[in-house]
Amino acid sequence: MNATALADLSADDLAALLEEQRAAYDDLKARGLKLDLTRGKPSSQQLDLADDLLRLPTSTKDASGTDVRNYGGLQGLQELREMFAELLWVDADQVVAGGNSSLSMMRDCLVWMMLFGAVDSERPWGREEKVRFVCPVPGYDRHFTLLESLGIEMLTVPMREDGPDAEAVAALVADDPSIKGMWIVPTYANPTGAICSQEVAARLAAMPTAAPDFKIFWDNAYALHHLTADEAKSADILTLASAAGHPDRPIMFASTSKISYAGAGVAFIAASAGNVSWYLAHLGTGSIGPDKVNQLRHAEFFGSAQGVRDHMVKHREIIAPKFAEVDRVLSERLGGRGVATWNTPTGGYFVNLDVVPGTASRVVALAKEAGIALTPAGSSFPYKRDPDDTNIRLAPTMPPLEEVTAAMEGVATCVLLAAAEKAAAA
Ligand SMILES: Cc1ncc(COP(=O)(O)O)c(C=O)c1O
Repeated sequence: MNATALADLSADDLAALLEEQRAAYDDLKARGLKLDLTRGKPSSQQLDLADDLLRLPTSTKDASGTDVRNYGGLQGLQELREMFAELLWVDADQVVAGGNSSLSMMRDCLVWMMLFGAVDSERPWGREEKVRFVCPVPGYDRHFTLLESLGIEMLTVPMREDGPDAEAVAALVADDPSIKGMWIVPTYANPTGAICSQEVAARLAAMPTAAPDFKIFWDNAYALHHLTADEAKSADILTLASAAGHPDRPIMFASTSKISYAGAGVAFIAASAGNVSWYLAHLGTGSIGPDKVNQLRHAEFFGSAQGVRDHMVKHREIIAPKFAEVDRVLSERLGGRGVATWNTPTGGYFVNLDVVPGTASRVVALAKEAGIALTPAGSSFPYKRDPDDTNIRLAPTMPPLEEVTAAMEGVATCVLLAAAEKAAAA
């Protein structure tokens, strides 16, 4: 659609557009919608795909003959670790299969690092005067909340299409020993959909850091969550770091939250032998073993790594049309207006929408008043502060397709209205 950019409209045309959008917004409010695009959750249709889990496992013993109903097996079921090692391009020995949340595993790692130090720390991080983390932005809100809860200061770097701005990261970490780590969502990042290239990963794996115990929290939550047939392969961070002489730098996290059940999946870490021993030593003080029954039913359900890949194609068939719909509505309603840019992700769970700077909070407030819940503006930034008030994260997987359409029509109206208001006030 060849609409005119707001910046090119005459004052009269702008006033007319503002009136038109106000009327459209009143109509929107009158519809009494109740729609939610806030969180990246699977829809019930996606969850249904894994319902055979409810009838598994058929056995009480794992492949080695161990009774999964009993205590033990802290590192997790060997056959499930082998399956996910293949999918994450690591060795089974490097993998720990845990409980139902990778975020909890990240939290455990951070808490243990603060209390006891990492495997290569001279002292607990908590004894340092200050602990800081590099956070590519926009990023995952829960990463930031977790750091904030532990009093870890956050420094931002831009997230680019090929991953974090590696030069900016390298410049920060080179001389500042208080910078102990960084986050990366390497594949189909939350929320930008970016894919960290092998080159960027290699730079981060090899860069000199003033902190000898610098850690990369490599959160590969969307490693297998392709939206197209062109399946991105994540960079080999463990191999790259090991080759660069920093085997203990990365810790990889993943889970089946958006593969099987979001509340009852299995989470994993993958890391060097040193990190795995460190992790298990701390884990063992508070656990006699994971839920192996759940791990076994996952192993039986998928059967093999290929079984997981095949399962992900079924997810793709359900959610790819919702992402296409977001793009269609935004393109038709906002294309050419110069009021927004957005990505068309090839995987993951989010669309990253950038609206006219200074209007993101207004858009979210307008949408809320019209019954469309959006993630609060600023959520994808540390301390919830988007310096440009421009970024909005859209999560289209959970609502049915018709609701995605209705919600996006509404969002487009709010984006245009907020932009027209700002232009008219200028
Ligand atoms: C980047 C990222 N990491 C981790 C999680 C949560 O993972 P889990 O369910 O394994 O705790 C999410 C969920 O939205 C996410 O987007």
